[in-house]
Amino acid sequence: MPKTRKKKTPVTNTSIDKASSSSNPHSSRTVIRRFHVLLKKQGQLKNAPSANAKELGDVEREINDLGGLAVYQRMSSVGQGNDRGGGSEKVLIQWLIDMGLRKREGKEKLKLLEVGALKPDNYRTCTSWIDTTPMDLRSRHPSILEQDFLLMDEGENRGRWDIISLSLVVNFVPDPRDRGRMLCLAHSILAPDGLLFLAVSN
Ligand SMILES: C[S@@+](CC[C@H](N)C(=O)[O-])C[C@H]1O[C@@H](n2cnc3c(N)ncnc32)[C@H](O)[C@@H]1O
Repeated sequence: MPKTRKKKTPVTNTSIDKASSSSNPHSSRTVIRRFHVLLKKQGQLKNAPSANAKELGDVEREINDLGGLAVYQRMSSVGQGNDRGGGSEKVLIQWLIDMGLRKREGKEKLKLLEVGALKPDNYRTCTSWIDTTPMDLRSRHPSILEQDFLLMDEGENRGRWDIISLSLVVNFVPDPRDRGRMLCLAHSILAPDGLLFLAVSN
């Protein structure tokens, strides 16, 4: 008798509400990872020389079934919660203080571009010395600029920023060439002694 293969249950079958609960870090991490896998696959299929419309459709359906970017952002912001140690901005702020950048006699505030901002006020404790521009592909708050970083005007922004934060953003970009472009653009729009804060997940 031929063996019947058991159909695997996609991890994305996890209930979104359950997975997004702050008390369930394992599930939200699993779904975030699944998003990364799907986004990567979507990018590969879009760039493949022979289009596979069916496979691409399946991937896009699963991304939608998961709740798309809105749910991905919600889960990511759960990971930034104080009950999980807070977001990576805490680390950046401490490093800037350690570098002596909080007290710069007679200088203007540091201009920080926060790409992939899930909250509008991550740097609220530093408004006296940091001027932050939070931005994201999909803005979750009127104070977050809705903008694709890759489409920023390079000429207008050249050398303009003292600090750029790309925290857990590069992972999100499916095409390796776009990841490279992201880093090159960041380099170009940073001031000559500007700082890039880059955080990636494994
Ligand atoms: C994992 S979340 C980021 C989280 C947050 N920065 C942190 O460190 O926890 C990634 C965010 O990057 C945003 N993003 C990805 N590519 C982007 C791009 N090209 N321009 C602007 N935002 C982007 C996504 O929309 C998403 O909200």
